Amino acid sequence: MLERINQLETQAREALQQVKDSAALEQFRIRYLGAKGALKDLMGLMKDVPADQKRSFGQKANALKQALNEAFEAAKDSLNDSRSQASSLKAQLDLTEPPLPPRLGRRHIITQTMDELAEVFGRMGFDLVTGPELEDERHNFEALNIPPQHPARDPLDNYYLATAAPGRDVSASASSGGGLRMLRSQTSTVQIRVMEKTQPPLRVVSMGRVYRPDEHDATHYSMFHQIEGLYVDRGVSLVDLNTTLLQFAQAVFGPQTQVKLVPSYFPFTEPSAEMYVRIDLGKGMQWMELGGCGMVDPAVFEAVGYDPEVWTGFAFGLGIERIAMRRHNITDIRWLFENDVRFLRRF
Ligand code: DAH
Repeated sequence: MLERINQLETQAREALQQVKDSAALEQFRIRYLGAKGALKDLMGLMKDVPADQKRSFGQKANALKQALNEAFEAAKDSLNDSRSQASSLKAQLDLTEPPLPPRLGRRHIITQTMDELAEVFGRMGFDLVTGPELEDERHNFEALNIPPQHPARDPLDNYYLATAAPGRDVSASASSGGGLRMLRSQTSTVQIRVMEKTQPPLRVVSMGRVYRPDEHDATHYSMFHQIEGLYVDRGVSLVDLNTTLLQFAQAVFGPQTQVKLVPSYFPFTEPSAEMYVRIDLGKGMQWMELGGCGMVDPAVFEAVGYDPEVWTGFAFGLGIERIAMRRHNITDIRWLFENDVRFLRRF
């Protein structure tokens, strides 16, 4: 009789070894531990056990019952564990899951502002042109009526290159474009380049970087952007200039925006003015300067071979950072060029 108990134990443990899933485990439970299972049958044999063996048979049978129940629980736990492992692995590898949308980059806020300005002036009939950042003194100064002794040409206020234009005689006449080379300090250079190549009438804007040695602080940077405008035709007047700048200011800062031109001086315009817009600077309405403008000086027309008796024109040059910073409440110009994506992503 005791032999039966050992046989059953071996058989049950082998069967449990074979169990690989919860359905098989349930089969095992019914077959060995269930109400009509092998253990129950074993207990049923008790009445046939000789009286002197009843006690030890009972103890053994109970020990087996407990051992098999424990083995069953352990098998159940390990099945659950491996199932949850399998399901978490499956979650990581779910090939049917829709992918996360890719994170898109965006244009720099200065680029966005320039695109908008191109659009505004484009609607007024201005073509977009470009010029080089590496310039010569003719285009940055001389043809713009800025003579050699002019303070704007001070080496401390400009980035001159240590070498002259390659293949050119430094002593060659300024009109050939010889002499020192420099990073342009203003986009007015493009006025000269366009007029050298194009006959009037013309209407262009040009945008890009300019360079001036400056200590960096919240409002100064040694590189910034300007938009330059040039309009040449017969009979152009200050009224045309004023109207164009008003249209631009209202398109960019809102239809209520006022503009005023305050008399000033630039070598390449006569008369010259500073352009102000009246906008809310956070502490109420205030006048903010955006740049310079004026009627093209006859000396500039002569420098590019236009007849100043026939042609008239206006020009303007405005700071793009000022426009972008005001519109987007940016209070420190350095943030624009540090390229911290946490800042750039805001726009
Ligand atoms: N180039 C000037 C500057 O950098 C701005 C300017 C003034 C441009 C008057 C113009 C102009 O075209 O007519 O400060």
